[in-house]
Amino acid sequence: MDHHIDMPLPPGGPLEFVPGGAPTAFNWQYPEDREQLAALYEKSKRLQWNATTDIDWSIDVDLERNPPGFTPEVFNLLTRPPKPFDDRMLLEFKTHRSAWMLSQFMHGEQGALVATAALASAVPDLDAKFYASQQVADEARHVEVYRRYLTTKIGLAYPVNPHLDTLLRQIVSDDRWDMIYLGMQIMVEGLALAAFGFMNIMEPEEKLIQQITGYVIRDEARHVGFGVLSLGDIYRQMTAAEMKEREEFVVEASYLMRDRLLMEEVWERLGLEKKTWVEWSLQTPFMNGFRQILFSKIVPNLRRLGLLTPYVREHLEKIGVLQFESLPDSTQDEGVSIPPALMQFFGQLMAQGVQIEVPTPPNSSAS
Ligand SMILES: [Fe+2]
Ligand SMILES: [Fe+2]
Repeated sequence: MDHHIDMPLPPGGPLEFVPGGAPTAFNWQYPEDREQLAALYEKSKRLQWNATTDIDWSIDVDLERNPPGFTPEVFNLLTRPPKPFDDRMLLEFKTHRSAWMLSQFMHGEQGALVATAALASAVPDLDAKFYASQQVADEARHVEVYRRYLTTKIGLAYPVNPHLDTLLRQIVSDDRWDMIYLGMQIMVEGLALAAFGFMNIMEPEEKLIQQITGYVIRDEARHVGFGVLSLGDIYRQMTAAEMKEREEFVVEASYLMRDRLLMEEVWERLGLEKKTWVEWSLQTPFMNGFRQILFSKIVPNLRRLGLLTPYVREHLEKIGVLQFESLPDSTQDEGVSIPPALMQFFGQLMAQGVQIEVPTPPNSSAS
């Protein structure tokens, strides 16, 4: 069934203009010295796809479909919500959660689109400019697929989350180009990559979103790898004072991202008391596990960049995500490793008789 809806707007209206940003860099030397970046650029050209023709948009989306055995009783038992869910409530929750999450994906993708365009302009390295230009096209496609899915398949969407908006503004208004990488490629994209992986695992019945996510993950894995490759050398040469600014940015961004995952808007739209449900979502192991998993790509990449300093570690520990530091980083592992916490949750679901397919972790030595 196709719906077609208008996009709901944030309080600031349909357009937002952010001043500032990094200066434009021309490189007249045209150096060919970044072999790994050049290889990534080649790979990107090979793996382009067309959202109009490569995705089968005729596939019907039915959010009432659940994995066999996934009932309100099992949900209540495993997550202990403030008010037990019945069938109707579970469906409403699922619909709104999907619409909210995919809306934030779409807004994040638009952020990635404009930030990578800024990066192509600001980064001094020519191979990095080449690659960034490929990524701009990738991100346009990602905005395109999520917009189409939300407006024609789910028929429900949410405005940009205020915490995400703050983070995106910060990233694009910074005049240091490495901050665009750090904020967008390492933090925002790292989270998105894990979220897409999570979505793919949790919605095995939704063939359309599976198709979309499969393509998007392949692109995003390259994007995160691009950030890790580009920043590694630069950060090794920075002074302690310069690195300290990067550490502070990482910590601030981590809190903004954690706060963006509390789904405040969803509780409001469902007519539930926001405070109670936010508290629940901060505490219930399922929601906690979900938020933690979203950091599973970020933490190893920060380690690779030399940013897992005592100060950063202290705060990641507070958020409860430091345990991912030993997972492989995005230059070693293109897929989404399934962290032990999620495997455990799958085990609990299956113990309750829910029939889900637990995918084999692409890099099982990581857990
Ligand atoms: Fe993207
Ligand atoms: Fe991306």
